[in-house]
Amino acid sequence: MKQRTQTVAVHLFRNVTRFWFVVTYLGQLIFAYYILMLYWKSTALGDFEKWNTANPHFYMKGDRVGNLIFGLHVALAVVITMLGPLQLVTWIRTKAPRFHRISGRVYIFSAFLISIAGLYLTWVRGSVGGLFSAIGITFNALIIIVCAFFAVKYAMQRKIKLHNQWAVHLLLAMSGVWLFRVFFMLWMVIHRAPVGFDPETFTGPFLNALAVLVYILPQAIVAFYFKAKFSGSPSTKWAFSLLLFVITIGIVIGTIGAVRGMWLPRI
Ligand code: HEM
Repeated sequence: MKQRTQTVAVHLFRNVTRFWFVVTYLGQLIFAYYILMLYWKSTALGDFEKWNTANPHFYMKGDRVGNLIFGLHVALAVVITMLGPLQLVTWIRTKAPRFHRISGRVYIFSAFLISIAGLYLTWVRGSVGGLFSAIGITFNALIIIVCAFFAVKYAMQRKIKLHNQWAVHLLLAMSGVWLFRVFFMLWMVIHRAPVGFDPETFTGPFLNALAVLVYILPQAIVAFYFKAKFSGSPSTKWAFSLLLFVITIGIVIGTIGAVRGMWLPRI
């Protein structure tokens, strides 16, 4: 009986984690498609004014450095969004280790660059939202930099278990911006009105809470994931699976909301 409970818990844990992964990767691919169609396409056509579809200050006439950094930021956003989740696929790691290594180098290098470009956009150019949002996304950048550093360090030292753990922390940090949009749209789907924030200034308690929820909390959830994975206790695996299942349902609804209300109308 004990053995059976253990087997069921292991299966549940594995399947819910796979469900989360598939939903997340599909959602991120749609986000990458949006970035490609909005920013890459308009850049290729020389139609820089189109950058301002989401916000009127993304392309600023005369601000060459700012425009260049924004362009670099969104260019890298596609690369990291498409490559990141693939790094976690065991089949690719075992069957195509060369791909994993090359794509890993590109990913880590891009992680540093996108964060530095993002910090410039936040603090030098000025971003959408208030001080709390700026501090929130700065934490996101710092978490990315720390996770990228340790993921590389342990890969070079061939400490694979530690490398894997830091890589998962990194993926979730790199997904923060995407999670922000998904859970923002989940909130909008639920309320059908801007509740808890001012849509003009894009500030308010809901957005402050959301920043913590998407930039900080996923790191604790990753820690819980590894605890559940390595734990012999079926109840820990059940608890984590249930939590991740609920989160994944939220991601499904939020992604549909983002596609219909945010990404498709802009491209
Ligand atoms: C690592 C994953 C990241 C991705 C995939 C990403 C993606 C994007 C995209 C697509 C935009 C254009 C806005 C839109 O069309 O939605 C954007 C804008 C921006 N990003 Fe990022 N970004 C990432 C990380 C960061 C980080 C770490 C920071 C800050 C440190 C940052 C700061 C900004 C800022 C300031 C803007 C301009 C929008 C605004 O004023 O709020 N990003 N990003």
